[in-house]
Amino acid sequence: MKSLLFQLILTSFVLLNSDNNVNAGVTSDFIRKEYPSEDIPLDNEVFAVPTGHNAPQQVHMTQGDYEGKAVIISWVTADEPEASKVQYGTSKGKSEFIAEGKTTNYTLYKYKSGYIHHVLVDNLEYDTKYYYKIGTGHSAREFWFQTPPKIGPDVPYKFGIIGDLGQTYNSLSTLEHYMESGAETVLFVGDLAYADRYEYNDVGIRWDSWGRFVERSTAYQPWIWSAGNHEIEYFPYMDEVVPFKSYLERYPTPHLACKSSSPMWYAVRRASAHIIVLSSYSPFVKYTPQWEWLSEELKRVDREKTPWLIILMHIPIYNSNDAHFMEGESMRAVFEEWFVHHKVDVVFAGHVHAYERSFRISNIRYNVSDGDRYPVPDKSAPVYITVGDGGNQEGLAGSFRDPQPEYSAFREASYGHSTLEIRNRTHALYHWNRNDDGKKVPTDSFVLHNQYWSSSPRRRKLKKIHSSSALGWIASY
Ligand SMILES: [Fe+2]
Repeated sequence: MKSLLFQLILTSFVLLNSDNNVNAGVTSDFIRKEYPSEDIPLDNEVFAVPTGHNAPQQVHMTQGDYEGKAVIISWVTADEPEASKVQYGTSKGKSEFIAEGKTTNYTLYKYKSGYIHHVLVDNLEYDTKYYYKIGTGHSAREFWFQTPPKIGPDVPYKFGIIGDLGQTYNSLSTLEHYMESGAETVLFVGDLAYADRYEYNDVGIRWDSWGRFVERSTAYQPWIWSAGNHEIEYFPYMDEVVPFKSYLERYPTPHLACKSSSPMWYAVRRASAHIIVLSSYSPFVKYTPQWEWLSEELKRVDREKTPWLIILMHIPIYNSNDAHFMEGESMRAVFEEWFVHHKVDVVFAGHVHAYERSFRISNIRYNVSDGDRYPVPDKSAPVYITVGDGGNQEGLAGSFRDPQPEYSAFREASYGHSTLEIRNRTHALYHWNRNDDGKKVPTDSFVLHNQYWSSSPRRRKLKKIHSSSALGWIASY
């Protein structure tokens, strides 16, 4: 009798607990307005070539070092090589300093690129506005950028997250919305121009048009690049089989500063964040260079200096869309345990042309011979966010798996971008902004609690002090 009673209690406990775990996620029923998802025609003003002979075009920048005191400025001159020279200073119209870099070019099928200039501008002061000039004579162009504050645990900073952007009217809407957000640096989760949707010489031409298209943002603030499948460009029919050729020629990264052997995977520290960029399409299994590098880079993360640990990759590890379902399994099998062990705060990915956010879950007990094979709630796990909804010509991925898996917290098939606004070492505000809602309407928002500073009793004490000054916020994680 006693044993029957125990069984009853146990059964009801299990049932009650499993009730708590029953799918609490939301599948948004929002239907977006139909816009064509074709690329904008090349003669549209968004792709306008700047006036003047050999005028610099496709200007873009990325962080140039490990600490945020350098930028790499890149641009293209169409007709002549001319010097790769950046004149810069802290007063408008006054160039106190000169930095020089290198010029390169490449061919893809019969397309010949313009002269591509890359200049490292280093030894900058933190938290300072710089003006810079590139080009010569009447064709010279001036821009500006703001360096981040010195690295520190409570430094506020606002990042934007964009993925799978392309060059359609939806892409333009995403870009314009992002630029209204006030974010200071873009974390780009791969698939830039979608130039590989074209053939022969048009591939290079669409890389050029994309460079001019995004210049309105990329000339003024760093975009932290990661590569997607549309950067691979494996074209045997054109006799072009070197992967990532256009991407690597055009979009350098500061991989040497973090001891990486490849521009495809690297890390930067900026304000209060340590950002690790992984390559979904480069070898990553045990003993490969990417695996070896990541194991070392995770040891270099110092949460006392940069509390926020953010990872970027192209293929999402947790995705419940029919598009690209399970494609992230191989990287999950290799790296998920590390993400949990190192208490990564958030993993951003793209690839799926929709928006999705996970609960904090992990699936690291299964070992082929033993253990559960199902993701379970895990407070040490990152939040996984897919922002592959920049608006490229392939359109939206509108078919989600039904029922919504328990790991999926919110999902919606429409275009947008995200922002992550770090307030201090314990709290950050996260927003996903749907394009259709006007420029400043967040659709999915929550407060992200820092994984490191939320977990130990000593640090919890400090967290309490910071929490009390936090605003009355929405949902929290
Ligand atoms: Fe992709």
